[in-house]
Amino acid sequence: MKKFTCVQDIGDLKVALAEALEIKKDRFKYVELGRNKTLMMIFFNSSLRTRLSTQKAAMNLGMNVMVLDINQGAWKLETERGVIMDGDRPEHLLEAIPVMGCYCDIIGVRSFAQFENREFDYSETIINQFIKYSGRPVFSMEAATRHPLQSFADFITIEEYKRKPRPKVVLTWAPHPRALPQAVPNSFAEWMNAADYDFVITHPHGYELAPEFVGNAKVEYDQMKAFEGADFIYAKNWAAYSGDNYGKILSTDRSWTVGERQMGITDDAYFMHCLPVRRNMIVTDDVIESAQSIVIPEAANREISATVVIKRLLEGLE
Ligand code: CP
Repeated sequence: MKKFTCVQDIGDLKVALAEALEIKKDRFKYVELGRNKTLMMIFFNSSLRTRLSTQKAAMNLGMNVMVLDINQGAWKLETERGVIMDGDRPEHLLEAIPVMGCYCDIIGVRSFAQFENREFDYSETIINQFIKYSGRPVFSMEAATRHPLQSFADFITIEEYKRKPRPKVVLTWAPHPRALPQAVPNSFAEWMNAADYDFVITHPHGYELAPEFVGNAKVEYDQMKAFEGADFIYAKNWAAYSGDNYGKILSTDRSWTVGERQMGITDDAYFMHCLPVRRNMIVTDDVIESAQSIVIPEAANREISATVVIKRLLEGLE
């Protein structure tokens, strides 16, 4: 594998799942693979799970790890070509990227949508520049439109907990005080479509995701109807995608907060969220603390998804 930014990069999901479960049984099985190899993790945005689980994954593979927080201690970076650099950004990404590539073998990048320009975000300008100019295999630690390490972990978790071959999985929008990117729901939708589950997306009008991510999912605007008979509930907030509303908050309707009222009409569904989660905005205390909440095993699987991905990138090194 030369890069990992979307579900297509992982190939056959059954093969990827088998590899994940093998690694879960013995996470140090490939500890020799990364000897004398260096992973550089570059964060344009904050993280708890991605930072720790990806570093742990690299350690499972015997790698050295360097972490760079672009906004803490590094030069501020200009990202647009053609800009006269007379402002507060003394270095251009186009020099910084190949320099970073000199010091490592594999690069992980976290760079969220900026919500200033939908075309800039949806063309994945930042991570694509790393792919083009670093000279190294690059993987996404959440980019503008996708969070594939999270979605891979979500897929592993659903496969571990499912009680029927083709479970009903519901992605539900829930309220949040800040405008959040569509990366997690986009990516989750992409992986759920690829897994061919009975997949439903529910959200208020105006929160439609980009059609290429909705794919074959059923869109149901009535949250209670969507939840009927569900096996998994995946809650997430996202800001609007469509037209002039891109990046805007259109609703803070707390009736969409996932609580016992909604969970009661599911088929004893498991509750999932990528975390961090705002309690009593996205989900009530009672639901996230219930026996049906699998948010911690879901987070634990981030180490497994990252180990599979970095292992494959190491195997693809020339
Ligand atoms: N789910 C997730 O990516 O968490 P962090 O933002 O803490 O990395």
